[in-house]
Amino acid sequence: MTHSSAARFSRIAGTGSCLPSNRVTNDQLVARLAQHGIETSDAWIQERTGIRSRHFADSHMGTADLGAEAARQALAAASLSAQDIDLIVVATSTPDMVFPSTACLIQQRLGVHGCAAFDVQAVCSGFVYAMTVADAMIRAGNVTRALVIGAEVFSRLLDFSDRTTCVLFGDGAGAVVLELASQPGILASELHADGRYADILCVPGHVEGGRVVGGGTIKMDGPAVFKLAVNVLENGVRAVLGKAGRVEADIDWLIPHQANIRIMQGLAKKLSLSLDKLIVTVDQHGNVSAASIPLALDHAVRSGRVRRGDTLLLEGVGGGFTWGAVLVDY
Ligand code: UT7
Repeated sequence: MTHSSAARFSRIAGTGSCLPSNRVTNDQLVARLAQHGIETSDAWIQERTGIRSRHFADSHMGTADLGAEAARQALAAASLSAQDIDLIVVATSTPDMVFPSTACLIQQRLGVHGCAAFDVQAVCSGFVYAMTVADAMIRAGNVTRALVIGAEVFSRLLDFSDRTTCVLFGDGAGAVVLELASQPGILASELHADGRYADILCVPGHVEGGRVVGGGTIKMDGPAVFKLAVNVLENGVRAVLGKAGRVEADIDWLIPHQANIRIMQGLAKKLSLSLDKLIVTVDQHGNVSAASIPLALDHAVRSGRVRRGDTLLLEGVGGGFTWGAVLVDY
């Protein structure tokens, strides 16, 4: 397909990521929980989730620190500087402050000012939501270069007396630079939410009078989330393929939200995709919510698996309940 010189699309110009240095293995977590009389095992965690280790940020490190470092790497990969950026969108559920947004804090760390900056809150689907918003703003002519960042310190939301959630999540950040292009990089996207399921995965509290009221840690009905995720993802993926006029066989790499290896493999199977086409980082990173997809993308790019010209399907699912997918010609 050729497009006129006036056609506006966006493409991924560079990727980056950042993990805190503190890597915590399943066995280390097992030992930590055992001190509080909570029983779990490396075997259970690996078998049910595929997770072997995750990274936890130290107390001095925040979401904006991780996001800014991922952004610097993405800018370097795109041979750009922060001055070239006119939009920063950050997907996070673990902002450093109630306000201002983490995007503003990252802008400050990058040493620039003036460009638009805001956060998107769609929990584990946040990165596909943020990509879709930035792509739309580029295509609408509002901006020409955007940093799209997923950054989280989920460890701060964990209840280490709840073994059904605390073994699942980790911290980190990933970023892409999206820039104006005459040919489509972002081919299509598809976003959904169903607030009727808000309470199956939530941090129910709010800040009131200087305190968190109602609970400041993750509550999740794991099996309910699992079932819903498997049901909604297939439809979302088929819809985004249909919008772009592509079929399953066109996907070179499936880069899903990294929550559970069984959900990811189940989706690949439904799409008749070989497991060789599935990018998996959940084993090393755990579930990093909005940062999972850009972390997996950056690792796949830097390891040489994802190459220019490949077609990538990014999909996310999580709290809200939210889900979505973005199809990309990289
Ligand atoms: O990022 C947003 C999206 N989030 C997700 O996609 C999460 C989706 N859900 C899941 O990934 C899975 O449901 C979990 C990994 C959370 C749980 O796996 P499951 O196979 O659904 O296990 P289950 O909740 O049905 O629990 C099975 C058993 C239970 O024991 P009983 O009742 O059979 O005796 C749990 O108490 O496993 C027990 N269990 C554990 N045992 C050892 C739960 N957590 C643990 C644990 N260690 N950490």
